[in-house]
Amino acid sequence: MKRREFLKSAALTGAAGLLLPRTTLFGADAPSNKLNVALIGTWGRGEAHFGVLASENVVALCDVNEDHLAFGAKRFPNAKTYVDWRKCLDEHKALGLNAVVICSADHTHAFIANWAMNRGLHVYCEKPLANTVEEARVVRANYLKNKNKLATQVGTQRHEHENFNRVRELILDGAIGTLESAFAWGNRKISRPGYLPAKGEPPNGFNWDLWLGPSPFHPYNPGYFVGGPGMNCLSWNMHWDFGSGQVGDMGSHTMDLAWNAVDGELPTSAETVGDNQDFNPEVTPVQLAAVFWLPANAWRPAIKVGWFQGDVIHEMGLVKYVDCKKIDHGVLFSGSKGELVADFTTRALLPAERDGDLSYYKPRAKEALLPKMGNFQKQWLNACKGGLKTACNFDYAGKMIEMMLLGLVAYRVGKKISYDGTAGQVTDNPEANELLSRKYREGWTLNG
Ligand SMILES: NC(=O)c1ccc[n+]([C@@H]2O[C@H](COP(=O)([O-])OP(=O)(O)OC[C@H]3O[C@@H](n4cnc5c(N)ncnc54)[C@H](O)[C@@H]3O)[C@@H](O)[C@H]2O)c1
Repeated sequence: MKRREFLKSAALTGAAGLLLPRTTLFGADAPSNKLNVALIGTWGRGEAHFGVLASENVVALCDVNEDHLAFGAKRFPNAKTYVDWRKCLDEHKALGLNAVVICSADHTHAFIANWAMNRGLHVYCEKPLANTVEEARVVRANYLKNKNKLATQVGTQRHEHENFNRVRELILDGAIGTLESAFAWGNRKISRPGYLPAKGEPPNGFNWDLWLGPSPFHPYNPGYFVGGPGMNCLSWNMHWDFGSGQVGDMGSHTMDLAWNAVDGELPTSAETVGDNQDFNPEVTPVQLAAVFWLPANAWRPAIKVGWFQGDVIHEMGLVKYVDCKKIDHGVLFSGSKGELVADFTTRALLPAERDGDLSYYKPRAKEALLPKMGNFQKQWLNACKGGLKTACNFDYAGKMIEMMLLGLVAYRVGKKISYDGTAGQVTDNPEANELLSRKYREGWTLNG
């Protein structure tokens, strides 16, 4: 529309029309201010990003499955298509890329995130951010180097629920007294028989070798792809070479509810018990209880943080007055004067019998409540365009997943381990140090 026509039509819409927010014309949503985005993984979880990305320029699509690539191309017909994300990122200058959204399988997340940041690109990465402690550390280090120019967000979109900040306020404001522990749990029990045997050929247009990517070779089996859109990750994420089971899956979402409230730093030690490893060494455990010791910070003493999977929370019988069986994924915060039980959207405060008279606690005035964050994916898009501030950047979420993955290392060695978070080393168990990283197939560079 020409300027004069625009002014005429604006005048016709009357005062309300002229009160359009500036941003509509000149700010974040202005056509000139659109981001050039690459979407990697264009089906399943990738589809959950179509709506919000439609307001940007999706200039590149990448998927190892050409049918899924075609699915994405239907929605974004002008994008250039790729089956290998390395080629896509190497062409970032020609594409004019600004940002990348990663929705591929877990074992590629840290790779793509590093490659993107190393090329000056903003990154949104679906959870989990990494598959090993080392991967989490490399991604976080790259982010910290670039944090004055890049916006990052890990895809724990439940974080947009206002309950996350209500819980944080209750803990910070002392509603349960001095914080002592925060235990998160999840009730999913997904048991897998181990890596699947060779079966059939990958369908035409499905690049199995690229799907395996950096992971050791395993034969193709269609059983890795039976989960349906947005749920297919459950078909492969229990296998060590492809995922970290429920630790990285619902663990990422649920621990986020605790992590947002405790201002956590890397743990000083970790101890984990779970399924008997001899039972099936090829898959991550179904039942798991991981406990981490976190150092004190400016507002609270050292605390214990836990992640309990399967039936563990019920067996522990930790919460007296709340039937945790009715809460699929939740967090129990314990303090000197009571407890707080929360799921993603609701919370229950349980004052202690003797000290919990609540006279010590003053609820915040409405004006002092932490602000709403709005749409989670949009927060990242806006941060890319200026400000760079996101709730789950790769520092916040990187430390959280590093802790969770350290819990799996403690499980594998079957002993309590001490951890130096500055050096990224287990200080009392050489076998555990070997498990902080994994070996990659030739041709795949984590920090490329
Ligand atoms: N935030 C959430 O609530 C949420 C929900 C579901 C899944 N996820 C995450 O999203 C990711 C994808 O999960 P999904 O269930 O959609 O899995 P999926 O197996 O369906 O994979 C999604 C798409 O990525 C493609 N893909 C896989 N590896 C690729 C690669 N190396 N390069 C390019 N494309 C690749 C697949 O072909 C598929 O089209 C997982 O990491 C999962 O943890 C997050």
